[in-house]
Amino acid sequence: MRVVAQAVIAALLLALATTQSAAAAGRCGEPPERPWCDTSLAPDARAQLLVDQLTQEEKFSLMAGDDATGVFLAFRDPRAHVGTSLGVERLGIPTLFFTDGPLGVRQGMGTGLPAAMGLAATFDPAVARRYGAVVGNEAKLKGNDVVHAPVVNLMRTPLGGRTFEGYGEDPLLTARIGVGWTQGAQSEGVIANVKHFAANNQEADRFVTNAEVDERTLREMYLPQFEANVKEGRAGTVMCAYNRVNGVPACENGFLLEDVLRDEWGFEGFVLTDYGFAQKSTAGSANNGLELEMPQAGFYSQANLAAAVTSGQVPQAAIDLHVRRILRTMFSFGIFDREAYVNDDAQIDKTGHADVTREIEEAAITLLKNDGVLPLRDGQVKSIAIVGADADGYKRGGGSGQVEPFTFTSPRAGITKRAGEGVEIRYDPGNDPVAAAAAARGADVALVFASDNQTEFADKPCLSLECGNPARGDQDGLIDAVATANPNTVVVLETGGPVLTPWRDRVRAVVEAWYPGAEGGTALARMLFGDVDPGGRLPSTFPRREEDKPLDGNPRQFPGVAENAEYSEGVFVGYRHYDERGLAPAFPSGHGLSYTTFGYRDLRIEPSPAGAVVSAVVTNTGGRAGVETPQLYLGLPEPRGDVPQPPRALKGFTKVALEPGQTRRVRFSLDERALSYYDVAARGWRVAAGCYGVAVGRSSRDLPLQGVLARGGASCSRSPGSGRPPTEQPGGGLPTSGCNARAFSLRLPDPRGRERLVSASVTVNGRRAPVRRRGGRLVARIDLRRVTAARPRVRIVARTSRGRTIRLARTYRRCSVPCKRSATVRVRDPAGQERFVSARVTVNGRRAQSSVSPRGVRARIDLRRVPAGPAKVRIVARTSTGRTVRAQRNLRACGRRRGRV
Ligand code: NOJ
Repeated sequence: MRVVAQAVIAALLLALATTQSAAAAGRCGEPPERPWCDTSLAPDARAQLLVDQLTQEEKFSLMAGDDATGVFLAFRDPRAHVGTSLGVERLGIPTLFFTDGPLGVRQGMGTGLPAAMGLAATFDPAVARRYGAVVGNEAKLKGNDVVHAPVVNLMRTPLGGRTFEGYGEDPLLTARIGVGWTQGAQSEGVIANVKHFAANNQEADRFVTNAEVDERTLREMYLPQFEANVKEGRAGTVMCAYNRVNGVPACENGFLLEDVLRDEWGFEGFVLTDYGFAQKSTAGSANNGLELEMPQAGFYSQANLAAAVTSGQVPQAAIDLHVRRILRTMFSFGIFDREAYVNDDAQIDKTGHADVTREIEEAAITLLKNDGVLPLRDGQVKSIAIVGADADGYKRGGGSGQVEPFTFTSPRAGITKRAGEGVEIRYDPGNDPVAAAAAARGADVALVFASDNQTEFADKPCLSLECGNPARGDQDGLIDAVATANPNTVVVLETGGPVLTPWRDRVRAVVEAWYPGAEGGTALARMLFGDVDPGGRLPSTFPRREEDKPLDGNPRQFPGVAENAEYSEGVFVGYRHYDERGLAPAFPSGHGLSYTTFGYRDLRIEPSPAGAVVSAVVTNTGGRAGVETPQLYLGLPEPRGDVPQPPRALKGFTKVALEPGQTRRVRFSLDERALSYYDVAARGWRVAAGCYGVAVGRSSRDLPLQGVLARGGASCSRSPGSGRPPTEQPGGGLPTSGCNARAFSLRLPDPRGRERLVSASVTVNGRRAPVRRRGGRLVARIDLRRVTAARPRVRIVARTSRGRTIRLARTYRRCSVPCKRSATVRVRDPAGQERFVSARVTVNGRRAQSSVSPRGVRARIDLRRVPAGPAKVRIVARTSTGRTVRAQRNLRACGRRRGRV
């Protein structure tokens, strides 16, 4: 009996072993009949063996997808793949299945992850790996081989409809997060498809627009993220974009697809098109690096390819090369040597993935402002008003990055659960500000939820909440109404990127939750109640005013004229734009508050032959544990006038969790590339000799540690011009003038560096003012006597030597303003987390009394002792980061009061 049992077990084991070895052989077949199935051969050799066996028709068929409808059906149907490319059964070539990312899998339902901008806000590549792994795992368990993600296009304009799918405005941050995503997804056995290559930065005219971008800008701003994903992330595929780049369609751009991607970066995978309209020709693409047309054959149809080869337009070698690259990639990712992935949602660990989304969102939520109202304290908060329909739903972006979540916890549900039984929760959808205010009145705290609307296919018309999400009505008005009714109002933004926050001074805290993902409600509740420290830091600047944003008012740059978008702003993208123009943002890039505070000291810069190691000591100076994100910025010297450098560029960041009082030295390694600019003439990266400004701190505008790194024998005794702490230059460096003259000359300052103003048109309330060149500078003559308005508006449109257009506006006060006996003068709102620490106020050179609070300087000016006439009030204030803020107000004194007889 025992022997029989043993025999049965042995037979079972043998059967099992046999199935396992067959499974391990995958779909390829047996090496004796199919030599390319020999797994001991290198992918290239296997691919070549197979190419030799293919008929011409089979080769052509491998160069185009075979499913035109999946891309649409996938929004709802779990069986629909976003794309399919049939294999060749005769030779055991597997069919490839594709799906969309990056915020989750778009194929029926999936786990909804926080917006990619939220992931970028974590400033944490390890979190990006976990994120990519969740998406990669679900892509696999839904039967796919390739996932169309990550999106690593830079946020060139905050109006971009797909801002929520990308990682913000800095190429380094985008590269680091993108690489993490790719590595995470590919660790699950699917191929990441990095998209959209390249300079794909707007939805307007998206199938045809031409990105006219100089090579230095392309290399420094728009390509490094792709380069990192190819070289470090080892992404298996790249999606070429809809747009053209310098006149050549991205999907037939030999410079991008062959010279840069293959020859320079060593890409060994394959290139496939964005869907439908990216490919613009047969021969152009076949001869310039495009392997696969998606989602179905058009230019790469049998007929078109056959005609192109027969006529000699496309050499046979090009066809063989493309097919070999596709097969090589499939071999190197093991697709031949495994079974097809099974499409069945039941395999997905939905609860486990939901937990990961919660943790990611906790690391993403960015606390923009907090005057102490947060965290909410258990026991002290007895009632919470939740206002806004977004609190009660699942907020997400639209298009191919849209995910239908398996389940979700709304903010309202998450907060209600976390608050517990003893806390009264009032909810109002916010459709009527009066009703919302009534709900908020008397609650211990009012949480107002506001959102924007982002979707593929359309850019936003403007940055205000109302314009960004008209369906929700006047959200700014709603916030104002609630803030008036409840002094403890907290605004929670669920946006995919920057928005205007005109009410920020009227509310006690501002939280950016992004599109928060499936467990966003739980994460938000935990953050609001202080169970976790808010982990996020801004991956993009929130401007103070609409007109401050990059590319504003310049249609040649965005959305372009006659389908041509000039990238004439060059490298001045994102915070580089605001820094260059001296514009104070509402919330700067890199900014985000913790519930504790951190101190920075002891900057060390240790040069190495290739670069340097920069380190600094960070201390948790507050009373609770927290996570800080120290950031390193460099101000590079300008080697020549035609290589302008921004005041600072992010070159390193890290995360450090510290207990109260705990201290740690954080280190940043700078390699040669970090110090380099792209020298177009020399066709390579070069390190300029000179002084490199080194700045370490907690945001791009809060950099308490400053130093200098000398390169190429430069002598740098003090901080160089670049890399200095930002100085406030309202309106982009124009002097603020006022009622000191009825007519005056306005000297138009050149931008930083060697850029010059070459021409300018100046108007005063619409009337042209004369502009002359004097002493090398443009000077406008402003005559306020001919203007009747009390506050004339001067507008300047200037062209620079680099072809940039600069627009500035300034409001003046006419001299007819009434004289005053006393006045209150204020300077408010330093950048980000900065505080004012001291101030000196003078009236016509004599010291006046003033009071300083962290958020503002207030001076009560007594003009009774000032002789009648102009009274120049000057304020020179110091901030906590060592910055000097200067302001001037021109008043008119009525003169000494005469005694009455
Ligand atoms: C077009 C989008 O640009 C791309 O990102 C997406 O992967 C494809 N459609 C497929 O949905």
